[in-house]
Order: sequence, then C-alpha cells, then structure tokens
Amino acid sequence: MRVVHSVSDFRALRPSLGRVAFVPTMGNLHEGHVSLVRAAHEHGAQVAASIFVNRLQFGPSEDFERYPRTLADDAAKLEDAGVSVLFAPDEREMYPAPQAYHVEPPTEQVEILEGEFRAGHFRGVATVVMKLFQIVQPDVALFGKKDYQQLMVLRNMVSQFAMPIEVVGCETVRATDGLALSSRNGYLSDEERRRAPQLHAELQRVRHGVLNGNRDFAALQQTAASGLDATGWRTEYVRICRRADLQPADPGAIEARVVLAAAGLGKTRLIDNLEI
Ligand code: PAJ
Repeated sequence: MRVVHSVSDFRALRPSLGRVAFVPTMGNLHEGHVSLVRAAHEHGAQVAASIFVNRLQFGPSEDFERYPRTLADDAAKLEDAGVSVLFAPDEREMYPAPQAYHVEPPTEQVEILEGEFRAGHFRGVATVVMKLFQIVQPDVALFGKKDYQQLMVLRNMVSQFAMPIEVVGCETVRATDGLALSSRNGYLSDEERRRAPQLHAELQRVRHGVLNGNRDFAALQQTAASGLDATGWRTEYVRICRRADLQPADPGAIEARVVLAAAGLGKTRLIDNLEI
C-alpha cells in the first residue's frame, strides 16, 4: 500500500491506478470502515482510502481536538484489507489557506435531524468530500448507512453537480450487542458502553411497531425518546422519515421508511438508524 500525504503525489499516482473505488474516512478505523473497503473491492477497481479529520465539519464545541488520531494502526488495517493507496493529508495540505469556497447543501436537507443540532456540519462534510473527489477522482465512492443523512446529502451533491461517480451505501456494522460501531464509542466509560446498545434497542422497538401496523408515529417516537431519557440519555431526536429525502414519514402513505435517532450518553453523542 502506498501512503501519500500530498495532493501532487496523489495526482502523480492517479493515472497508474485505473478504475478507483474510494473510501473516505476520518481514521480511528473499525470493522465498519473495513467493511466499506471490502465492498469497494467488489467494484472491480483499485481501492483508495483517505484519512483526514476535517475541521470544517466540527462545531466550535464539538470534539475536533480530541478526535482520536491513530494513523499507524489505521494504515496497518487498510493494508490488511487490500487498499492500494492511502491518502493522508495534513491540515496544511487540505487547507493551505482558509477554505473560502463551500458546498452549501439545500436548507431542507440540512435543517433537519443532524443539521438541527450540528449547524454547518453538512456544509463541512460536502465541502471536504467535494475536494477529496477532485483529488482522488474516484469512479465509485462508498459511504456507510450509519451516517444516513450524510449519505443522502452526498448522493444528491454528486447527482446535482453531475459528477461521474457512483455512490454506494453500505450496511451498518454493529457489535454483537447491537451497538453501531463508531470511533466515538471509544469515549464511553465501561458503564456507558454497557448501556449504549439501548439506542439500537429503542430503534428496533419503533421499527417493529411500524411493521406491526402502528400508525401513531408520534407516539412511537415519543416512547423511544422517553425510554432513553428515563435511563439518563439526552435524546435529541427519534424520527420516522421517508428514506428518499428524510422528510417526516406519512403514516398513511406506502413509502420506504427509516427511523433515525441521536442521543447523548455522558459526554458522548451517538447516532443510529434502522431502515423499516
Ligand atoms: P467517518 O466517521 O470516519 O466515517 C467514514 C465512513 O465510514 C462513513 O461513510 C461512515 O458512514 C462509515 N461508517 C462509520 N461507522 C460505520 C459502521 N458502523 N458501519 C458501516 N459504515 C460505517 O463519515 C466521515 O468519516 C466523514 O464525515 C467523511 C465522509 C470522511 C468526511 O470527512
């Protein structure tokens, strides 16, 4: 595996790679990230990955400074998974001058769910992914459904800018107790880690409720949020949405749905979702 730190080195290498499937990450890799690399191999291409903790997508009171940086371990995992090139720029390489041009996702996509609680987050994500796409020039890019809204925003960005990239969404990888793998799980104390699977459990209850014909979506959402809050979580949202655009689901319609949630446990903020 080649490890490349500069844009110019990546550009020099790019023609020799041919078809490229790309997995962008912020590092501190776990089985979820590795599953994206595995899926990337199915696209008949060399696999490129990136590791860059993108300041632009963190709010002022979020965990940018303490976000875990574990490049050596990450590189070993990517190499084992068969990645051909790892692009790992530092901040000066990605942002030699403060980024003054941004990709601004439409309000209706970013003022809901995560956007309500993380102002500017998706603008930061879309901007860095646009920039990574310009550098890597992938044919295929893979993202996890764990970050369901991010996947939707990026799919729409690629489509609206007519970028010649196939966006692939991959299933969420979970621990055996149901907790979705996340770099942020490492912030949990032992006691919090034991309680963390409750988020997934509440989402499953909502999912089963809907599948069993309960059409009182507001009550299903409220019961899940109260269940979490009663055991010390701070629920930000539990919402049943249309998969297509993540607008509130219509209980009377026949449409593909997903239930999404975000909640704080101790100092850690966790998100999860389940397709229904
Ligand atoms: P990061 O949180 O490192 O995630 C990188 C990719 O791994 C994302 O597509 C994410 O959805 C996926 N992922 C995370 N946990 C997963 C799990 N348990 N199962 C399956 N996939 C999982 O998402 C980002 O980085 C950044 O926003 C980025 C797109 C790199 C832009 O900075």
